[in-house]
Amino acid sequence: MDYKKYGFGTRAVHEGNSVDQETGAIKRPITMANSYALPYDPSALNWSEAGKNLYTRNGGSNQQYLQEKIASLEGGEDCIALASGVGALSGLFFALLKSGDHVICSSITYIAVYRLMNELFKDKFQIETTIMDTGDLDAVRAAVRPNTKLIHIETPGNPTLTINDIQALAQIAHENGAFLSVDNTFASPYNQRPIELGADFVVESMTKYINGHGDAMGGAIIGKKELLDPIRAQSQVNLGATISPFNAWLISRGASTLPLRMKQHNDNALAIARWLEKQPRVRFVSYPGLESHPKHELAKKQMSPGFGGVLSFGLDGDHDTHNRFVSYLKVITSAVSLGHDASLIVFLGEDDERQYLYPQQFHKGFFRFSVGIEDAEDLIGDLQQALEKL
Ligand SMILES: Cc1ncc(COP(=O)(O)O)c(C=O)c1O
Repeated sequence: MDYKKYGFGTRAVHEGNSVDQETGAIKRPITMANSYALPYDPSALNWSEAGKNLYTRNGGSNQQYLQEKIASLEGGEDCIALASGVGALSGLFFALLKSGDHVICSSITYIAVYRLMNELFKDKFQIETTIMDTGDLDAVRAAVRPNTKLIHIETPGNPTLTINDIQALAQIAHENGAFLSVDNTFASPYNQRPIELGADFVVESMTKYINGHGDAMGGAIIGKKELLDPIRAQSQVNLGATISPFNAWLISRGASTLPLRMKQHNDNALAIARWLEKQPRVRFVSYPGLESHPKHELAKKQMSPGFGGVLSFGLDGDHDTHNRFVSYLKVITSAVSLGHDASLIVFLGEDDERQYLYPQQFHKGFFRFSVGIEDAEDLIGDLQQALEKL
């Protein structure tokens, strides 16, 4: 069935699902088998072919169903579902780049991207990397080299919630024969679809909003089939970052309610960001939905209907003030990750080695707060009682 003409909510439920031909079940089953039956004469098969139901590392049915759903939600032709967000990021970089290529990468990204670009690819594989503020478009234009192969950005960026202009960066990349990849994890496809804005690749940690329940890891690369085919073979079959069938099934199940959950994340985060901004003890709040965010107008242009569930903020006080504040919280949990049903908060201290890349206000330590789907009044009440105890 072709669901292309239907809305986001309908596609979130129905894409990647159909009546199981064998049992008549109206949900596709989980297939945990490692291997699939071979034809009478298997000798001519290509054992390295990806996407084939041959051996689960080459591809499996639950992975395939999930890929159909995510490609549709991101508005892409094709999708590769992998074992984690980092598996997707490194799979894309390993398969696309070669020694002597140059990459421009946002200074505000998930830490593993910084490590891959600043250490592994630079030191071991002789890939030239420029880690820079990709919000400064003139500086990006000036940084492009004849061998620039890729511009990689994350918007909103982890952990400062910086916003980059996807359309403008896609144009710069394409004018110079390079690709643009966008990590869309913080926004999720409900709020932002980078392919519609010109990106060549979207990368998602499906561990976060797409799964949404904090109980399975997965990653995805979305883009044109001709670009993804060689990446699929390398990242999955040869590097081995295949997603487990059970996780693919869990993430498909979670993704059906993505629009409902995202609506609640968006509403809760905006209400809490506005409330936090009014608290005398709060030094700053960074959330793209706030008028005070330096890139609010750009965020409004490329994100809709909302701005996601993650914000960051700082408190007045010394290092231990932040730890005491977290210890007083009753509903909000101190834990890494984001995009779960439950609210999670993490204190990022003053000694993060990337501090020099962050705006000044982040230098005294700050919180990254992933606002969950609980009742907003309860979350605000929890923050309030912890602030009062300080
Ligand atoms: C923006 C972003 N991209 C990628 C990742 C990595 O995802 P995973 O933990 O699924 O490997 C994370 C993890 O926090 C993230 O925040």
